[in-house]
Amino acid sequence: MSRIAYVNGRYIPQHQAGVSIDDRGYQFGDGVYEVVTIINGRMADEDWHLDRLEFSLGELVIPMPMSRAALKIVIRNIIRMNGISTGLIYFQVTRGVMRRDHAFPALMKPQLVMTAKTMKFPGPDSARPVKVITVPDQRWRRRDIKTTQLLPNCLAKTKAVEAGAYEAWMVDDDGYVTEGSSSNAWIVTKEGELITRPTTYDILSGITRKTVMAIAAERNLKIVERAFTPEEAIAGAEAFMTSASSIVTPIGLINDSPVADGEAGPVAMALRHAYFDHVGKNAAE
Ligand code: PDD
Repeated sequence: MSRIAYVNGRYIPQHQAGVSIDDRGYQFGDGVYEVVTIINGRMADEDWHLDRLEFSLGELVIPMPMSRAALKIVIRNIIRMNGISTGLIYFQVTRGVMRRDHAFPALMKPQLVMTAKTMKFPGPDSARPVKVITVPDQRWRRRDIKTTQLLPNCLAKTKAVEAGAYEAWMVDDDGYVTEGSSSNAWIVTKEGELITRPTTYDILSGITRKTVMAIAAERNLKIVERAFTPEEAIAGAEAFMTSASSIVTPIGLINDSPVADGEAGPVAMALRHAYFDHVGKNAAE
């Protein structure tokens, strides 16, 4: 069965889908996107993702391509037409199509593309600890906006893959981890505190991060929002990452140093477990 994409009002086979070469998303990376976990045919934390989409668009002064209610209908159609039970949905809004010019007029017609794919997430008990490498953070200063301009992230992830790692942690000029190339970064200290960087302009405010925070709070785990260094992570009890595609994934190696005994940490695994329960209960109809 061919995958179906939504492109500016039309549902078409993905291999036939295309956008204009004058789309500012193609020319300048002038657009924003969301990636959302689908579990049991439903989007996890749908409204939080749509809130972040509206925030990213607002910061770049791009109008919503359609109302939130209409967007929810397209989302459901794409999940259904592609027969997705477990997987990811991707949607992207660009500023629009015009002759190439850095400056843009105030009023443009935003372009919306949506795709979805089936993906199997390793169950809570089979997630293996992964390796991350560290790289300098080379991005612009508004990392809180989920823009499609992902070149530094792509370079970082490629370095990770070349080093046999799963993710790259980006490190700021002061030696602190900002986040992963497509995930948020966490550690657990030997005292059992969860540490993750606060959501300023420096990082993307991850939706999985937010959900995991709520789950951790329910379990009376202490969360401290502050920056940490790779050295502190290596010397701590656990490290893990969160994102729509990795959920909660334990980290066993940072560069070539094991985190604790290099195994999946119990806090990360418990949070991964709890995430699936939480999403099963809370996913939107
Ligand atoms: N990435 N930080 C960055 C730089 C990201 O790109 C992502 C998400 C996250 C985690 O956010 P969330 O929990 O909302 O997925 C943090 C998605 C999955 C991607 O680009 O594929």
